[in-house]
Amino acid sequence: MRLVVIGCGYVGTVVAASMARVGHTVVGIEVDPEKLAYLRTGRAPFHEPRLSALLKDGLARGSLTFDDDPTTAVPDADLIFLCLASPNGGEGRASMTQVEAAVASIEPVLRPGQVLVSKSTMPLGANETIASRLRDRCGFEVPVVANPEFLREGTAVQDFLHPDRVVFGADDVQALDVVIRAYRPIIDQSFEFGADGSDLARAPQVVTTDRRSAEVMKFAANAFLASRISLINEIARICDAHGADVDIVARGVGLDGRIGPAYLQAGLGWGGSCFDKDLAILARQARDAGIEPDLIESVRHANQAHRRWVADRIGELLGGLAGRRVALLGLAFKPDTDDVRDSPAVELAQRLLAAGAEVCAHDPVVAKVAAVPDLEICPHPMLAAERADAVVLATEWAEYATLDMHALAGVMRGTLVVDARNSWDPRRVVDAGLDYHGIGRPGIAATAGGS
Ligand code: UGA
Repeated sequence: MRLVVIGCGYVGTVVAASMARVGHTVVGIEVDPEKLAYLRTGRAPFHEPRLSALLKDGLARGSLTFDDDPTTAVPDADLIFLCLASPNGGEGRASMTQVEAAVASIEPVLRPGQVLVSKSTMPLGANETIASRLRDRCGFEVPVVANPEFLREGTAVQDFLHPDRVVFGADDVQALDVVIRAYRPIIDQSFEFGADGSDLARAPQVVTTDRRSAEVMKFAANAFLASRISLINEIARICDAHGADVDIVARGVGLDGRIGPAYLQAGLGWGGSCFDKDLAILARQARDAGIEPDLIESVRHANQAHRRWVADRIGELLGGLAGRRVALLGLAFKPDTDDVRDSPAVELAQRLLAAGAEVCAHDPVVAKVAAVPDLEICPHPMLAAERADAVVLATEWAEYATLDMHALAGVMRGTLVVDARNSWDPRRVVDAGLDYHGIGRPGIAATAGGS
């Protein structure tokens, strides 16, 4: 099938490259000249495992091209994916500027029989608004199918090609058929994979529903995920106060089939560009309907409180932050991405700096943080740790898992290690003569035999 993907940000680039990978002919539309130049040479404009390989493959096979103008490709397309950002425009009101501009740009060239698939997370009802606008402007029906995206940064390609479920919200059966046809290789896991490092086949559940329910599903999924993390982090603070270990608690709780183990990893608080934005928009839409979103707001507030608590805890453990040197390992909001939007690690750096600490950070891919221009970023974790009073693991990159703790102890001035992602083995830390503190885990002082 011939597909056009409008907007090559995180979601759009993954959709375009993956749809080309499963056998479609795809044109990706991107108006930012810098991003377009990247895409045309098979480079992802952001760090995302496997994406560049997929882009290069599509470009080489001729099944994937990129353009800045949709009007050439749209007339020949069976399906047009809308993958534009709808950021929080303030007070939880999603900004529809990009989506509206994109729809306006294709209106003159749309033809009957084509289907719009919207993957942008838009306010509830926005798909209906787009459909009725197109009806008015085009003079014929252009079905709009809501197809929310659940991919995670860092595993986006895997999540798109081997999803748990795909959701289609449509009020037009024919349009639904066309979209399902485009997804057929993914639904059946019938495309050739394995050579590109993807997992084994995992046939997703297909959920077909009305547009509004599909729209709510996206917000609800993020609200559930964020609330689980806020809750386990609150439990972690309780564990910390009462000498329990939250990791063991989470394991025991997650073994309950009704609860399950996912998203129970206590840490530094959730971040990224989606959770808080989507919760804010959902809360606003609740209020607009006269519903007080107590729980959703609590999930957001609890996350803020948790982030503050971690910074305060580091201050307590150091006996004050002024003049202390802290090495921060990781700046991205999670591993395998260079995204620092609403990163808890960056917020921690800001809090430590504001309290008078000297902070030196390292991240395997983040080389600068525009929001904190004064933040010193070192090219190697050991350089960041030099003369540090404390080392804080802020993002659980795989390369930190094998960090040489004896070498770390050798370059540090102090002995405090704060594992703010509970991802290090405490024994490895204390055996090197360092003091281990996790999040909601009992602290362990260095062993006498440590170097
Ligand atoms: C999230 C959702 O997981 C996706 O399904 C959704 O498509 C996406 O938002 C979106 O709306 O676009 P993402 O923000 O990429 O994906 O990242 P996650 O892997 O969900 O992690 C979010 C944050 O929660 C990170 O800061 C992560 O470190 C934190 N987290 C996650 C925890 O602290 N504990 C956990 O157990 C899991």
